[in-house]
Amino acid sequence: MSRPKVFVAMRHVPELAMDLLHKRFDVELCDSVQATRAEILQKIPGKFGIFCSPVNKIDEELIKTAGPSLKVVGTISVGYDHVDLAAMKKYGVRLGYTPDILTETVAETTVGLLISTTRRFFEANHALKTGEWKYLTPVWMCGRSIRNSVVGIVGCGNIGTSIAKKLNTFEISQLLYTSRTEKPAVKALGGKLVTIDELVEQSDFIILSVALNEDTKFIINEERLAKMKSHAVLVNIGRGGLIDQDALIKALQENRIGGAGLDVMTPEPLPLDSPLIKMNNVVLLPHIGSASIETRTEMAITTAKNIIAVLDNTPMPNEVQF
Ligand code: DGY
Repeated sequence: MSRPKVFVAMRHVPELAMDLLHKRFDVELCDSVQATRAEILQKIPGKFGIFCSPVNKIDEELIKTAGPSLKVVGTISVGYDHVDLAAMKKYGVRLGYTPDILTETVAETTVGLLISTTRRFFEANHALKTGEWKYLTPVWMCGRSIRNSVVGIVGCGNIGTSIAKKLNTFEISQLLYTSRTEKPAVKALGGKLVTIDELVEQSDFIILSVALNEDTKFIINEERLAKMKSHAVLVNIGRGGLIDQDALIKALQENRIGGAGLDVMTPEPLPLDSPLIKMNNVVLLPHIGSASIETRTEMAITTAKNIIAVLDNTPMPNEVQF
């Protein structure tokens, strides 16, 4: 009897996760490192599940192309803004994702990105490598300290809360956050729940750690950029679509804010002719927030288990409810 089929839309998935899939499914791997849209549409018909990531748009066209065999989408991510939930519901396809596992790793990346942006690590490293380091004068390559600063976290879910805990050890003067509801764990650190406009006006460091949806798209727009302090540093660890990137580029070019640290941007990968790439006051990372070996291995295993749970008709380790 033939086994159900799963399409894996990327290469280099940790072996432990692939082994789990191979035990239960006929697994089809994409041809190159990452499946193109065309390849997915060509290979998805008749599949029971797809193992995908945020780069793979899961929409009605794809679900219809898969046909009635498609029962589950497993995304190796906490974010699922790339998935059309209405279409999933319409065709009865379930969605597995990987929350919690990556919380601490993304929070670690955020702290690293914040420090390297405000303290100009990459600019300084470049100066060293290109011979620009000739003297050690008092203000050369100085940035602003995190200590005694106001830190604002937009979106205080698990990741935002972990970032708050980590940054609280830096002896900051005030922690601000936005959230639908007050977060006792953040309040216990002295965190103050404020509106987004209060947060952008008052913060020295602004961290975006919120999911992208219709309410949060362009949450940082031209108007809010104009409200920021002239030395404010903006860090985005969520999704590129949270920021009106053209407005951000303009604000940075005109030195209206201090700088930006971006792990996510629009589009991804960022074209090499983007003005962001040449800016000294910008640190760019290629969406590596959760990229530790341990975390990505666990995320891959959970994604495989999410898919297998649908076959077994048992509860998924992590299912998006919609
Ligand atoms: C996530 O899990 O959503 C991260 O952004 C990695 O894609």
